[in-house]
Amino acid sequence: MKFFIDTANLDEISAAAELGMLDGVTTNPSLVAKIVDDPERFGYGEFKKHIAKICEIVDGPVSAEVTTLMADEMTVQGVDLAGIHPNVVVKCPVTIEGLKAIRRLAGKGIRTNATLVFSPNQALLAAKAGASYVSPFVGRLDDISTEGMALVDQILTVFDNYRFTTEVLVASVRHPQHVVEAAMMGAHIATIPFKVIEQLVKHPLTDTGLDRFMQDASVIQ
Ligand code: G3P
Repeated sequence: MKFFIDTANLDEISAAAELGMLDGVTTNPSLVAKIVDDPERFGYGEFKKHIAKICEIVDGPVSAEVTTLMADEMTVQGVDLAGIHPNVVVKCPVTIEGLKAIRRLAGKGIRTNATLVFSPNQALLAAKAGASYVSPFVGRLDDISTEGMALVDQILTVFDNYRFTTEVLVASVRHPQHVVEAAMMGAHIATIPFKVIEQLVKHPLTDTGLDRFMQDASVIQ
């Protein structure tokens, strides 16, 4: 199973990379907005430079999302984003226009991540259009009292039925149980916020056990 980090924060990305668990990064406009101090001075050029910095830290797929809605513009921007670094994956929403852009970008050999996936049919259409990844947003489904992980299970079954090579990238991960369930289901990737990565490590019995070992270690030192 691959682990991506779901953030645009360079410190968080570097910290996760140090743990030896990081296979890639996903960003979206909301995550980028969080790291911008001065929106007046950021803009598209700075965004591209920021994605390039992420690519220097992590040797794996880095999702950068288009900020346009029509297929023509998404395709032009997708080609531009893909030019930042060979590891850039262009994130496009699953809309009619987004599917067209995914197909066009795939035709140019550019990898895409179909985002804002909330149904198995959306995932199926994205896979057929040539998406490299589909991103079901499990936490946002949980938020509306729908079982997000059930969607992941459905997509995995559909892709397995037809031998799609599109990878299922579990997104909108909110807590460690999402990661456990994704792994149990055989999801290819989970993209995880830094806070949840830290939670994956923690266990109270590890902490109390370590306290005891440190006390008893006095006989060794
Ligand atoms: O990868 C998608 C993710 O960033 C969305 O997460 O917590 O905003 O639903 P969230």
